[in-house]
Amino acid sequence: MITLNIVAEEKDPTQQVESAQAAFDDEFRRFDNLAFVIAVDGAENGLSALKELRTRHLGKKSAIAASKKLIGRVPAEERAAFGQLVQRTEVAITESIASAESQLKEIIEKTRIQRETIDVTIPGRRPRQGHLHPITLMRQRIEDIFVSLGYAVEDDREIETDFYNFDALNIPEGHPARDPQDTFYTTEGFALRSQTSTVQIHAMQRRGAPVRMIAPGRVFRRDTPDPTHNPMFYQVEGLCVDRGITMAHLKGTLAEFVHRLFGPETRTRFRPSYFPFTEPSAEVDYSCFNCAGDGCRICKWSGWIELGGSGMVHPNVLRGANVDTSEFTGFAFGLGIDRTCARIYQLDDIRLLFENDVRFLEQFR
Ligand code: DAH
Repeated sequence: MITLNIVAEEKDPTQQVESAQAAFDDEFRRFDNLAFVIAVDGAENGLSALKELRTRHLGKKSAIAASKKLIGRVPAEERAAFGQLVQRTEVAITESIASAESQLKEIIEKTRIQRETIDVTIPGRRPRQGHLHPITLMRQRIEDIFVSLGYAVEDDREIETDFYNFDALNIPEGHPARDPQDTFYTTEGFALRSQTSTVQIHAMQRRGAPVRMIAPGRVFRRDTPDPTHNPMFYQVEGLCVDRGITMAHLKGTLAEFVHRLFGPETRTRFRPSYFPFTEPSAEVDYSCFNCAGDGCRICKWSGWIELGGSGMVHPNVLRGANVDTSEFTGFAFGLGIDRTCARIYQLDDIRLLFENDVRFLEQFR
């Protein structure tokens, strides 16, 4: 047993070193299983716990540091043996910590590389390709036809005054034609337009005569939604004002339109009708694109499908828009885009077009 030569009753130095080793071994045991340390603390925390361990067992205030100070006080003949014991213990502790540290760092590095590896052979996530809404596709087909006939495409406001929606279209206050087109009113005398005919007035005011334009757009009516009605729907307005325009031009234009849209065998039919802003007025039908007029489910066994309203622009409308009626005449028409869409795609319910259900819309590319 090694004793100290100064204070005999002080603790046995060998025992001090041995218990320092034991205390270290006790704490170090959990680092024998690094996978466990990582699972409980996380790799980075495990590393800093190891650093604290080093400070505690090898640092200035450690038992080993205290033992080193004892070396000089051990009797000369025992000093070498004691010094070696202290050194062996210090080296053992240092090596244990260093080896655990390097293993831990290796694991950290490995998982980092694993995390950051990109497998370039894995197929990418393909973005779902969208497409235009069936109403937009239909609108574009209609626009293409009229643009090729020399018409401009007008895009105008959806919020209107009574003047443009009614008065300027020869529908004065109290006129029964206002009733079926009851719309949504906002404050200060504005309302959502109930028909694209409003654009006739804007176009004539802006461009004067002659003018040839179509105006596709949304219109609004206070209708209760059902399979054939929606409070918001799409129309295309058409207007042609020039010198010497007659009903023949109207008929020729719409006949050409349905030829291009549904095929050259398509026939048209004009039925007398009434609209306040045209005189004379006519409803236009075309022979069914499905049965060519024989009668089928699509045309409800009549052989004809309604295209829309039309007529010769009423002189009051021309005058109201500052067009000289002694020089100019014109025709106008209004078609329903979604109605035509629903027919072509054989939709039982027009509301399907506005529900934004991709599973439905995907069918119409
Ligand atoms: N604006 C009418 C409606 O919404 C449709 C219409 C009929 C437009 C005859 C016209 C026309 O330009 O001449 O019911």
